[in-house]
Amino acid sequence: MTDVPTQLLHDGHRIPQLGLGVFQTPPVETEAIVRAALDAGYRYVDTAMIYGNEEGVGAAVRDCPDWVFVTTKLWNADQGYDRTLAAFDASMKRLGIDELDLYLIHWPVPRIDRFLESWKALIRLRDEGRVRSIGVSNFRIEDLERIIDGTGVVPAVNQVVLHPGFQQRELRAFHQRHGIVTTSWSPLGRGEALADPVIGRIAEKHGKTPAQTIIRWHIDSGLNVIPKTATPARLAPNLDVFDFALDHEDLRTIEALDRADGRIGPDPAVMEMGV
Ligand SMILES: NC(=O)c1ccc[n+]([C@@H]2O[C@H](COP(=O)([O-])OP(=O)(O)OC[C@H]3O[C@@H](n4cnc5c(N)ncnc54)[C@H](OP(=O)(O)O)[C@@H]3O)[C@@H](O)[C@H]2O)c1
Repeated sequence: MTDVPTQLLHDGHRIPQLGLGVFQTPPVETEAIVRAALDAGYRYVDTAMIYGNEEGVGAAVRDCPDWVFVTTKLWNADQGYDRTLAAFDASMKRLGIDELDLYLIHWPVPRIDRFLESWKALIRLRDEGRVRSIGVSNFRIEDLERIIDGTGVVPAVNQVVLHPGFQQRELRAFHQRHGIVTTSWSPLGRGEALADPVIGRIAEKHGKTPAQTIIRWHIDSGLNVIPKTATPARLAPNLDVFDFALDHEDLRTIEALDRADGRIGPDPAVMEMGV
């Protein structure tokens, strides 16, 4: 079984560097796909209230004799201090577990301006021992500064869109200065990056697939990565990235694929779905 390396979070806990994302994995299929992932060696699953599949994730991980790192996320409509506490309880009930590894604020939604209150609720949940680590998702530098200045508590993780076509260098530099682990969502560019001929050439050189090459790029870049697949046959190959490494030239070549307009999904400055 593949031994996935772990990364040390600034709060002293560890997170596997590679996990399975389940966004758009249909709820009725989730338990089976997560079970298959656990059989293939995954020990980290990334879900969210809004994915509608926390029950399936919970059912599969509860049966696993090993520690499985679980992340879930607070949805936008549930922001605010009291609502956050209630939303956390509801997620835990669906997951059916006693303690969560990582709870994230899914989006900052700056216009409604409740993320600082939500962050205070996450700090309370952590202090009460209900969640080991707390973090955020889709936060911009200004949002991160606001919660750090407002509470003195630095998020352990910021999960953001990040793939070869959109590399978030400035945000990553901020994370590095503050000891925040960057998790890459849509790490494969939702599949689009797989067809890039530059990636294809590097993949061929290493005798790997484009997906494995991109996942390895995240690993070699010190990122935390959660590729999604709901295709059982892709689970093991997506995890099989620990027998090779990209060289300096490969990294330089992929660095050049970064594009200012490469963002996938909404801009966090204006994303308000659910509020
Ligand atoms: N925090 C946030 O706001 C946020 C937003 C989006 C996503 N996420 C998280 O990040 C995870 C990953 O992002 P994502 O699902 O958007 O995109 P992704 O992981 O970049 O790409 C997933 C797509 O790539 C395909 N794929 C996966 N492995 C493949 C392979 N080996 N060969 C060919 N195609 C392959 C999948 O198809 P099949 O499934 O059909 O195999 C799916 O269509 C999500 O599941 C979720 O956990 C978080």
